[in-house]
Amino acid sequence: MSDGRRPEQVAQQPCRRVVLGVSGGIAAYKACELLRRFSESGHDVTVVPTAAALEFVGAPTWAALSGKPVSTDVWTDVHAVPHVQIGQHADVVVVAPATADLLAKAAHGLADDLLTNTLLTARCPVVFAPAMHTEMWEHPATQANVATLRQRGAVVIEPAEGRLTGADTGKGRLPDPVEIFELVLGVLDRGAPPQDLTGRKVVVSAGGTREYLDPVRFLGNRSSGLQGYALARAAASRGAHVTLLSANVALPDPAGVSVVRVETTEQLREAVVTATATADAVVMAAAPADFRPTSVSDAKIKKADDGSAPAIELEQNPDILAEISHDRARAGTVVVGFAAETGDATGSVLELGRSKLARKGCDLLVVNDVTGGAVFGSTDNEAVILGADGAVVDVPRGTKIALAHVIWDEVSRRFAE
Ligand code: CTP
Repeated sequence: MSDGRRPEQVAQQPCRRVVLGVSGGIAAYKACELLRRFSESGHDVTVVPTAAALEFVGAPTWAALSGKPVSTDVWTDVHAVPHVQIGQHADVVVVAPATADLLAKAAHGLADDLLTNTLLTARCPVVFAPAMHTEMWEHPATQANVATLRQRGAVVIEPAEGRLTGADTGKGRLPDPVEIFELVLGVLDRGAPPQDLTGRKVVVSAGGTREYLDPVRFLGNRSSGLQGYALARAAASRGAHVTLLSANVALPDPAGVSVVRVETTEQLREAVVTATATADAVVMAAAPADFRPTSVSDAKIKKADDGSAPAIELEQNPDILAEISHDRARAGTVVVGFAAETGDATGSVLELGRSKLARKGCDLLVVNDVTGGAVFGSTDNEAVILGADGAVVDVPRGTKIALAHVIWDEVSRRFAE
């Protein structure tokens, strides 16, 4: 898989009826990848392109990839009433890419082709993944249409930033198909996400920091960043402004999230302290290296002829979570930490978690049992969330995005209090 995960690492879902609407933008070709992901994970996909979409990717491609004929109008197979049936029987409708024109039609309830008819007959969750030029996205007409659709309960994903059709760059790219796929799986599981983090600024750290010995070697750890990225995606889908502090993670940027890249624990510390000053919540999902070499060689360290190995002297890195928990820059910021524990002679996983919660001084601690390294690189996770207020929330085994939503539920409850 292009996100680097083996097929067995992708959680299997029951077969659901997915309608993939494709409107006429250059990003239509990326919807082929999205379609493959749905069909390869066992879902029944019906593709409904607009006539303009077929200018970019032809009907044979959609038919071959979905195993079903495709049509754009309401005059084909009229006896089967497709303009009503397709929407009525869908478990989810996802439109990717959604052009400015398609968003406008959907917001105003126009129904002049099969896709717009389907959008009016669907009673299931509807997800739009817009893609267009920055000017078109930012135009008040488009923004008003997006607001109308969101207010009616549709999920409209924020476009990604980057290279657009020509040489220009800006906001308006279709998010990575993996991002859209994962978001839609979440919507199938739990319905459209609540918008309880709207207007909130949240900071999430993800990945594992590296401490360099020389220009080519470093001390690192096994954190993949999947849980932190899931937290960032979940918060963005609930309306938050998200800053993701990413330490050495090889995953696509989550849509609608500002990503700041760091390498070392000291760089992460600086970025966390700066972002926390104005944040409503901070989640430290990263695994910062606890130790760093006391000195970093400017040149590559060479092997000695006598077969001896260099002694590496280490010093402790700052504890970022303890620092931001104890010196609260802003009253009311909810601080969340993670504890990866294996349990040892001094205590069980939960006992060690409880004493870590007290030591770090955060509001919530998500305790993972990492005995045997089971969590690293997996899309699944299970945890117990401990609150400084005595709360204990058991999260059974499920996807990392499902755990992310339970964590945001707990944060959101504390905002409300
Ligand atoms: N953490 C941090 N700064 C560090 C080390 C850890 O902010 N230098 C944060 C992690 O992001 C996580 C939490 O502290 O949210 C717990 O991390 P963990 O590795 O379990 O704890 P440690 O403090 O390293 O404690 P120990 O390894 O001794 O159990």
